[in-house]
Amino acid sequence: MRALVLSGGTGSRLRPITYTSAKQLVPIANKPILFYGLESIARCGIREVGVVVGDTAAEVMSSLGDGSSFGLNITYIPQDKPKGLAHAVLIAKTFLGDDDFVMYLGDNFILQGIEDFVEGFQRSAGNINAQILLAKVSDPERFGVAVLGDDGSVLRLVEKPKVPPSDLALVGVYIFDREIHRAVNAIKPSARDELEITDAIDWLIDDGLRVKSSIVEGYWKDLGEPEALLEGNRLALELLSGEILGDVSIDSSVQGRVNIEAGAKVIGSVIRGPVIVGANAKVINSFIGPYTSIGPNCVVENSEIDYSIILKDAVVKDVGRLEGSIVGKGATVLRRESKPSALRLIVGDNSRVELS
Ligand code: TTP
Repeated sequence: MRALVLSGGTGSRLRPITYTSAKQLVPIANKPILFYGLESIARCGIREVGVVVGDTAAEVMSSLGDGSSFGLNITYIPQDKPKGLAHAVLIAKTFLGDDDFVMYLGDNFILQGIEDFVEGFQRSAGNINAQILLAKVSDPERFGVAVLGDDGSVLRLVEKPKVPPSDLALVGVYIFDREIHRAVNAIKPSARDELEITDAIDWLIDDGLRVKSSIVEGYWKDLGEPEALLEGNRLALELLSGEILGDVSIDSSVQGRVNIEAGAKVIGSVIRGPVIVGANAKVINSFIGPYTSIGPNCVVENSEIDYSIILKDAVVKDVGRLEGSIVGKGATVLRRESKPSALRLIVGDNSRVELS
């Protein structure tokens, strides 16, 4: 079995963070979202992975390399524009050949990984042509939605329906055998001008092929929006090992599961886990509360932060308390004491600032 990992797209819902970073490489618990997926693919025993890349190809390629650090062999497949998930399958035909493959959307975070899902397909190999992963959601109109028969077989899929026929949304992981190639060649672009994977799967069903489903156990989220990113960060931090490699001064207190990476310094501060403080970061005279990731080389001084993601090289100084915040790479948030005591903002395009 092979894997096809989608790491193109535009990431518009995560701007401004995605102006300078591929959506799939935004870190949760200081590790890029995409790495969790690739690690799970490697644990499935898969070695050959095709990674579909778009405008952010250079960044994705320099971060994943040849895949050997994951125990994988990566082939990059350039996509000129995000023309849809089925289009990604279409352009990957040479890489995929006639092998079965798992297709994984690179911005999805599945806490328990995909090992059980892949094993399930392998057990029924030869009896089914596609298997999709579903999750019950409260807002199905935002997703591809499935209608199931009594035996769990898929009767129909609808992309972002105005009136959802069920609350079962497609999670961004699919397994296909070679029949999918006939489907992606047969379908036409949708109203939003994309080749939809839901149309390709419907085509399989109409052609009499067998499409099964599994319901995801545990947590799943497509980390395409800020709130989802913070929630994903919270869950990823729950997995922390709790390891202190950096320096913690004796007038600091570290409580609960906290990772302090090599070269980091915590001085006169309270850190209440789950928290990760990245390599060479400095936390001075501050409180870092639960579910916060401080990236490498950050400086946090005279501030309180919880339930937040501070990306690498950012500086947060004298700000009082930050909560539910995402601070981009190299950004500076600080308090200025000089008069006039007005807010002074240099805010990037599509940023959001909330004042209390
Ligand atoms: P989406 O989240 O549907 O699309 P997007 O990345 O363009 O994000 P936004 O809606 O915020 O603009 O894509 C799911 C995943 O698949 C994501 O990791 C990007 C990837 N993708 C491709 O690689 N090629 C494509 O043609 C599409 C549509 C998505």
